[in-house]
Amino acid sequence: MHRDATGYAATGEEASMAALDAFAEDLLGYRSEIGRIVTAAEADPSCALANAWAAALWLLTETRKGHARAGRFLDRAEAAAATEREQLALGSIRAWHAGDTATALALCAESAMRFPRDLVAVKLGQYHALNRGDAPSLLRLPLLAAAANDDVPWLHGMLAFGYEECHRLAEAEGEARRAIELRRDEAWAHHALAHVLLAEDRAEEGIDFLAAVADTWEGRNPFIVTHNWWHQTLFLLDRDRTEEALALYDSRVFALEPSWGQIQAGAVSLLLRLELHGVDVGDRWQKLAPYLATPDQRHIEPFIDLHLVLGLARAGHAETEAVLAGIADRAASAHDATRTAWAEVALPVARALVAFARGDHQGCVRDLSPVLPRLHEIGGSHAQRDLFEQILIASLLRAGRLAQAQRMLALRHALNPRVPMTQRLLARVLAAAGVPEA
Ligand SMILES: [Fe+2]
Repeated sequence: MHRDATGYAATGEEASMAALDAFAEDLLGYRSEIGRIVTAAEADPSCALANAWAAALWLLTETRKGHARAGRFLDRAEAAAATEREQLALGSIRAWHAGDTATALALCAESAMRFPRDLVAVKLGQYHALNRGDAPSLLRLPLLAAAANDDVPWLHGMLAFGYEECHRLAEAEGEARRAIELRRDEAWAHHALAHVLLAEDRAEEGIDFLAAVADTWEGRNPFIVTHNWWHQTLFLLDRDRTEEALALYDSRVFALEPSWGQIQAGAVSLLLRLELHGVDVGDRWQKLAPYLATPDQRHIEPFIDLHLVLGLARAGHAETEAVLAGIADRAASAHDATRTAWAEVALPVARALVAFARGDHQGCVRDLSPVLPRLHEIGGSHAQRDLFEQILIASLLRAGRLAQAQRMLALRHALNPRVPMTQRLLARVLAAAGVPEA
């Protein structure tokens, strides 16, 4: 048996060890060459990890096609798996394929404890934690592997995001800066620091920071490129620089891989936020809708589905009802690990978003307001889910529900006092309620 760069033994031919090392770098570094693990898996059926990771890569596409293609690689990995590390990887990815993301996450954590140098398991575990809205696990996973990886920039990037989602912002910033010190092009650490600067109302710093490192994203995986540019638009919106944000929609945020659900979610999110800032986005909903209407990326992750249904409804597209019906079907048929998230959170939120898009603000408030404390269950980050909170505030204002709007806006203002839109909305609510200006 040979060993890959982690030092742990792995099945497969000697040449496959380099392919395993390359996959770890491609995954953690968001490199666009990541598809080469599939070629390596095809070339060496005796390598359990290459085949398990090829299956994982297909699942990471979050498409029905990807799910179908993963099965054959999982079967080959199962026939080859011999070590405990391989059994854990295979068991986790097999559970993920079956829809049991709770078990997938638990096995990644087990791997992080037993084989901490294997950062592929930590990264995939963070992916499940993010999709399950499990911020404590997002932090726990890299902490389990921290002692064995003090010199590894990616570990610090993963820690930074885990700390940020747990609202431990000072530690998050420290870890992100440590990662970038070790490796200037650590795109996930750039991303984590962007989250920190957004949470701390430091938009000017955020704009300068992202602009200074954006050259390192060229040619990377389209998700990280478009998502980091999306973060730049959040800073711009927080300072009312809407024209620049709209220009970035066209040039960066929706300029790569338009069929990918994650990229569509970013596009929908940005267009809606621009509209909440009073910007006329022209025919962009109509141009976006045909991409949202394709079925391959539907009903895999509730987070994606909610953006699809919002964008389709906003464009007045006929597929809106089909996506809603599909979410209702997932609410009844999804694996136990995610069924309540689909049934008790995603379904009412989807109905609320369609109501919002159609101007039914009482309906939006009725369906969205009660599930707001459980919104994390649909997955995504705080910054991403904030769109839904902004939509609820807009509906509360339009429906004349001023007391609830004031409560939410006052909290937002306390956390981020320099955001002009929050200041404007809060002033409007107080004026409508007859409260004299401070
Ligand atoms: Fe993000």
